Amino acid sequence: MIRVLHSFDLKKKRVLMRVDFNVPIENDRVVDSFRIQSAIPSIKECLDAGSSIVLMSHLGRPNGKINEKFSLVPVGETLSDILEIPIKFSHDCISEDAINVTIGLHPGEVHLLENLRFHSEETNNIPEFAGKLARHGQIYVNDAFGTAHRSHASNVGVTEHFIEKGMGYLMEKELQYLLERFKEPKHPLLLILGGAKISGKLHLIDRFLDDADTILIGGGMAFTFLKALGVDVGQSIVDSKMVFSARKILARARRKRVKVVFPVDFVVAETIEKPKEIKTVAFDSIPDSFMGLDIGTETVNIFSDYILGAGTILWNGPMGVFEKKEFENGTKAISKMLSLAYDKGIDTIVGGGESAAAVKIFGMNEKMTHVSTGGGASLELLSGNTLPALEALGK
Ligand code: 3PG
Ligand code: MG
Repeated sequence: MIRVLHSFDLKKKRVLMRVDFNVPIENDRVVDSFRIQSAIPSIKECLDAGSSIVLMSHLGRPNGKINEKFSLVPVGETLSDILEIPIKFSHDCISEDAINVTIGLHPGEVHLLENLRFHSEETNNIPEFAGKLARHGQIYVNDAFGTAHRSHASNVGVTEHFIEKGMGYLMEKELQYLLERFKEPKHPLLLILGGAKISGKLHLIDRFLDDADTILIGGGMAFTFLKALGVDVGQSIVDSKMVFSARKILARARRKRVKVVFPVDFVVAETIEKPKEIKTVAFDSIPDSFMGLDIGTETVNIFSDYILGAGTILWNGPMGVFEKKEFENGTKAISKMLSLAYDKGIDTIVGGGESAAAVKIFGMNEKMTHVSTGGGASLELLSGNTLPALEALGK
């Protein structure tokens, strides 16, 4: 059993908390604070209970080298704004100076450590490095769900140094919605899949073929499936190595009586950038020189009926190239339909990564049962795999 945050006596303790503050930064500013906001309940709980906190995270992939581009300084500023208190910052997560700052913390104070991945020992999960990190705390809390699929020093190695260790509220919440909720989902269970690639989602599809009633397939991956069905898709992206797998998935779906629904129309163009002509065509009438870049309105209507008739919905992957205004409609409409479904009491769960980014861009993130903060981690969990960081906490 993994301990949870509210089971600890936090008073006057130093809590070392692993968070996932791997957020997008532009011009030294945090442009999406969703992951920071999501860690606030655990941070507040500790502060309110009278502990001091040392927060540690990675940002980007600096590959073991100090690189200002990946500094957590902007994150510290955002965090300080949200908490409305000044926070202490150390430029090297394991230096003696950093340890001294930690030792000098008073109850209610926060100390943020610079990017863990400025040391290659973090991703290599080197025990000495984990031991040095452990010096920062008396209690270890992991609330970094987005990183839980990694075996690194700050989320796996470090746990060996603590008797008192457990997970934070965000981790608990993610498990509740991505794991518990799917053990006995309200039916019909609807899986909406999109995004460019099938390859990363094979396990997810496999697992949901056992449980789902219907699977809607949009986004780039629809073309690989259509290709497998012998449909001519013009210049649309096809993952040619996956055509065979797509055929196998469809055969399994038939055996399992899971309904798989494809788009009936697409928004097509010859180029993604500055397209000269954009039109909507039937799924089997994509002109040779055109590619499908979004689902069409007819498809949105069909998908909407399934969405509003569902009991539980899991959405993973955008319906088109939603970063471009010209091709955002499908993804936007599906976000909107999910929010309407949520209003009707349907469980709407958005797997992290691109679909989470989309619901945020379209302003729908508050109108979902759950939007995951994890990309790879949510995919792993939903696929039925264990997460190394959780295993480490359970030992
Ligand atoms: C993520 O954003 O996927 C997590 O923070 C993990 O980052 P990583 O993929 O670089 O390990
Ligand atoms: Mg990732």
